[in-house]
Amino acid sequence: MTTARPGRVLISEPELRTRIAELGRQIGHDYTTDFIGLASYGAGNRSSGQVRIVSDLAMPVENRHVVVVEDIVDTGLTISYLRRNLEARHPRSIRVCALVDKIERRQVDVRIEYVGFTIPNVFVVGYGFDFGGLYRNLPYVAALDEVVPA
Ligand code: IMP
Repeated sequence: MTTARPGRVLISEPELRTRIAELGRQIGHDYTTDFIGLASYGAGNRSSGQVRIVSDLAMPVENRHVVVVEDIVDTGLTISYLRRNLEARHPRSIRVCALVDKIERRQVDVRIEYVGFTIPNVFVVGYGFDFGGLYRNLPYVAALDEVVPA
């Protein structure tokens, strides 16, 4: 049974489209990019504290400039793990892009060179962000509301 549902819209569809196009232009101007996938969350909105690589880069990054495209930086543990992992592959440089930055929740200091939106300490769903696999398909970013049973 679900105990939470999307509430107020934090970032609307037009705002997302505009900002993502801007970030894409900025990064496209500076870099050729490759991608890596990581997972850090278990069910719901609780962090498992464990980070694992679920899909690795197709190309070696040794001596290459790397941009990490991340959905959201929360505690910073995932991006910090990823930076260490990539550094071990000896790229020429590493930069980070995050669509959403939840700066108040930071547990480790991380540098984010390209930030889409900075938001307060709320769990978000929609536009790819999920709550235990739910709400990923919403066309906007919303705060997740706790549902109190009647
Ligand atoms: P961090 O390691 O705490 O910085 O978390 C990074 C990862 O946690 C992100 O890549 C997301 O997959 C997930 N995450 C953190 N906050 C949220 C949220 O508000 N909604 C959905 N997923 C989140």
